[in-house]
Amino acid sequence: MYRTVWLLLAILPAALARGSGPPTSEYPTICITMEPGHGSSPASGKAPYAISLDSDTYTKGNSIEVSIYATEPDNYFRGFFIQARRVGLPSLDAVGSFISEPTEESQFIKCGTQNSAWGHANRNKKTKVTARWIGPSTSFGPLVFNATIVGLKKEDYWTGVMSSEILYGNANGVKGQGLLLSTMVLLAYVLHK
Ligand SMILES: *[C@@H]1O[C@H](CO)[C@@H](O)[C@H](O)[C@H]1NC(C)=O
Repeated sequence: MYRTVWLLLAILPAALARGSGPPTSEYPTICITMEPGHGSSPASGKAPYAISLDSDTYTKGNSIEVSIYATEPDNYFRGFFIQARRVGLPSLDAVGSFISEPTEESQFIKCGTQNSAWGHANRNKKTKVTARWIGPSTSFGPLVFNATIVGLKKEDYWTGVMSSEILYGNANGVKGQGLLLSTMVLLAYVLHK
């Protein structure tokens, strides 16, 4: 009887740990490889998940809303791990940081710098998760959000699920400069006449 209880107590934490999120403190290399270490190879074919962003530019003080969602009806995911990375190599460091941590379902994770990654916090079925991210205040060149997403079973996971690229700069600023330039050209033309 006591032996059974002890055995259960020994097994329980191991079984629960999988649901508690990407084990980055136990295995820090996960921050770099983004491999879940589930002892199988990633699923092949296009992932039934996608990443959407509410902006295609990052700039000082501006945050971007990042969502991971299932692209097919009645589909869901249980686990995820996401970071912003530089496009091209070497691009293994997580860039920027996630802000305003969502409750319960997920958690922010330290990969090098504080809150630079975001992952699940339980094994519940998820159809969509959303958080905000703030980029570096100087240009790091084009960035992309790179995710590992775990589906129904832990063996069903996809690596390298990417968002569209984001660029440093302010779209309005560029438009504003364009307008200023056209005004100056028009003025020079008028004055020349
Ligand atoms: C995204 O992650 C995968 C591994 O999961 C890696 O092979 C790929 O190089 C990464 N891409 C970027 C831009 O970090």
